[in-house]
Amino acid sequence: MKIGVVGTGYVGLVTGTCFADSGNAVTCLDINADKVARLQRGEIPIYEPGLEELVVRNARAGRLRFTTDTAAAIRDAEVVFLAVGTPPAADGSADLSALWKVVESIGPHLRADAVVVTKSTVPVGTCAGIERRLKAALGRDCRVASNPEFLKEGAAIEDFQKPDRVVVGVRAAEVGEVLRSLYAPFLRTENPFLVMAPESAEMTKYVANALLATKISFINEVANLCERMEADIDDVRRGIGHDSRIGFAFLFPGAGYGGSCFPKDVQALAAMARDKGVAPRILTAVHETNRAQKQVLGEKIAAHFGGHLAGRKVAVWGLAFKPRTDDVRDAPALDLIERLLAEGAAVTVFDPEATENVRAMYGDRLAYAATPMEALDGADCLAIVTEWGDFRRPDFDEMARRMKSRTIFDGRNLYAPREMRARGFAYHAIGKAPV
Ligand SMILES: NC(=O)c1ccc[n+]([C@@H]2O[C@H](COP(=O)([O-])OP(=O)(O)OC[C@H]3O[C@@H](n4cnc5c(N)ncnc54)[C@H](O)[C@@H]3O)[C@@H](O)[C@H]2O)c1
Repeated sequence: MKIGVVGTGYVGLVTGTCFADSGNAVTCLDINADKVARLQRGEIPIYEPGLEELVVRNARAGRLRFTTDTAAAIRDAEVVFLAVGTPPAADGSADLSALWKVVESIGPHLRADAVVVTKSTVPVGTCAGIERRLKAALGRDCRVASNPEFLKEGAAIEDFQKPDRVVVGVRAAEVGEVLRSLYAPFLRTENPFLVMAPESAEMTKYVANALLATKISFINEVANLCERMEADIDDVRRGIGHDSRIGFAFLFPGAGYGGSCFPKDVQALAAMARDKGVAPRILTAVHETNRAQKQVLGEKIAAHFGGHLAGRKVAVWGLAFKPRTDDVRDAPALDLIERLLAEGAAVTVFDPEATENVRAMYGDRLAYAATPMEALDGADCLAIVTEWGDFRRPDFDEMARRMKSRTIFDGRNLYAPREMRARGFAYHAIGKAPV
């Protein structure tokens, strides 16, 4: 099949590459000329495990092309995926300005039988809005579908090629069949291909993210309570998780959720609810709880030093909002860094992949270490914000030698408190008594 993908970010690039890898002819379109030039040279602008090899292989095979030329990307395409960003506007609702620009620009180039598919996470009713706008511009009906994306950064290829389910929202069964045949290579293990109305598909994406965010905020609130109750959140987690009605997924306490999806999607769903006169009480609480949780590490550090951080040196391990990505959008590490800098601390950061994205934001206001150990030289404490595998089994003896004070604030509960005490560290985790 001939496919156009508009937007070559985390979602568009993975979508285009995986469809090329299953034998389709894919042209990816982006307005960012620098990004397109890099992709044409085989350079991958983001860090996503396994992506580079797939891009290079499919580009060499002539199945995957990158362009800034709208006509070239759209005129032959039987299916056009829209994968541009939908960031939060000031009131929390989704800002669709990029999407509407794309709809306007691709319209004149669309084949009469093309199917336009939204992969971007868009408010309920957007698919209908695209249908209306295209009809007004072209004077004919266009086939539009919703196909929300559930991939996780860090495991995006695997998620795309082996999805738990594919959700499509369509008005006509035949449009569903076009998408079913496109996805067939990824559904050979009989995972479901769910066809519904576009409104339900759009809603499904927000509800999935909002529920996952709710689980995280819930366990974080309970973890904070455990600290005051002399209970241990990991014991409590085990105690509840074995209940088959509850389970363990997404019930790990931490420094708050970040990334380009959960924070914005919770707010966007709340904005949709308010717009329809439904009070989003749980969604509002989930968002507020998360905002507060992103302050917890900073509060613990400030309290430890009696509120005086000026002149202290703090090492931060982990900048990406989660491991195996370089994405720092809304990352909890940024909240911590802001606070430490505001209170006069000197901050040295390390991340295996995301350092350059943070350097672009902070420049010389931070020091950047080339290794986790280098970040610790002379540090008064270490804060761990992302659970990269690199941090799970460090050389504690070397850490002790390099740090001025053996004090760790662990926002991801990576280590056993008893072991840390035995090694002479002051260790502050989330949801358990400090040692
Ligand atoms: N990142 C994720 O893990 C993830 C997962 C599921 C769904 N989503 C959703 O997918 C959408 C895209 O997210 P992302 O993380 O890939 O965003 P992104 O910011 O990484 O990429 C968006 C791309 O669109 C391009 N773009 C903007 N305007 C354009 C235009 N007019 N024409 C062509 N290209 C244009 C940008 O240059 C950029 O390369 C969002 O709605 C997001 O909520 C993201």
